[in-house]
Amino acid sequence: MSAAPPAVAWLNGRVVDWADCTLHARSPGAFWGANVFEGLRAYWDEDAGTSRVFRLEDHLARLHRSMRALHLRTDHGDDELVRAVEDVLAGNDFRADAHVVVVVYVEAGATLDALQPTELTGVHVTAVPFPRGARYRTGLDVGVSSWRRIAHDVMPPRVKAGANYHNGRLAHHESVRNGYDTALLLNQRGTVAEGPGSCVVMVSDGQLVTPPASDGALDSLTVDTVSALAAEHLGLPTVRRPVDRTELLHADEVLLAGTLVEVQPVVSVDRVTIGDGVPGPVTRSLQDLYDAAARYGTGRPGWTHDVPVTTGVGA
Ligand SMILES: Cc1ncc(COP(=O)(O)O)c(C=O)c1O
Repeated sequence: MSAAPPAVAWLNGRVVDWADCTLHARSPGAFWGANVFEGLRAYWDEDAGTSRVFRLEDHLARLHRSMRALHLRTDHGDDELVRAVEDVLAGNDFRADAHVVVVVYVEAGATLDALQPTELTGVHVTAVPFPRGARYRTGLDVGVSSWRRIAHDVMPPRVKAGANYHNGRLAHHESVRNGYDTALLLNQRGTVAEGPGSCVVMVSDGQLVTPPASDGALDSLTVDTVSALAAEHLGLPTVRRPVDRTELLHADEVLLAGTLVEVQPVVSVDRVTIGDGVPGPVTRSLQDLYDAAARYGTGRPGWTHDVPVTTGVGA
């Protein structure tokens, strides 16, 4: 990430200076993490002078699903939120890949009661330059965390709520302290759930195999993309079924998939080498196919949303 802060953000209907994109410390959105959000990636295409947002409509659709689950609503419609994403990217003119976050948060009500009804919400949209992960080419060493994935009857993992992310943070930090790049979390039944901000896919017997959302994985757009690309270009089907921890060790390849991490090879789990210990051919192909689809729009119609960044805010 760049040292200098971005120039602008978007808050409740207006483009504002980065420093003015604030919410009150006493709002449940701030002090309870009472919010739902989407993280999107925008790919910079130097030749086209365009910042290309991947699967914007699908991210907004998932934002609505998260809001519905937590009884949140907003008066800012999707057209306005699309425009907000465009204005933030155009106004910052990063000329680099960026991470865009759209957050619907619970505002402080008149009574300052954090359990108040949740009609009162705000929305902010921010973006920061975000380069590709350092281990994108060489692959990740991951460790299974002692922290289990939150359960559906505790904090629904299908919902992208800010407070859920303490679960992944605990697991990730534990794994980094133990010398790994990141963590994998098991669910309460002991089968594989996901990574802290990504889903797990293994390549096994000519199939992609990934845990279903009911096993504690987010309904991942990246898995959906990878699955479509694997079927169309590599002739590989995707199977969603419970995955035992030890199955990962016997897989031909393992990868993490997520908007932010994109497609990243996993080369060891709990210090056990996966396959040959180097990124495998299917993972490599999926990285290339995913990059072409997201960065250059070679995927399905409607997957990419171009934002010309040379025209400035509101052009
Ligand atoms: C907890 C969690 N799991 C999985 C994912 C991967 O989902 P997607 O591919 O839609 O980004 C994300 C990222 O959004 C996430 O935050």
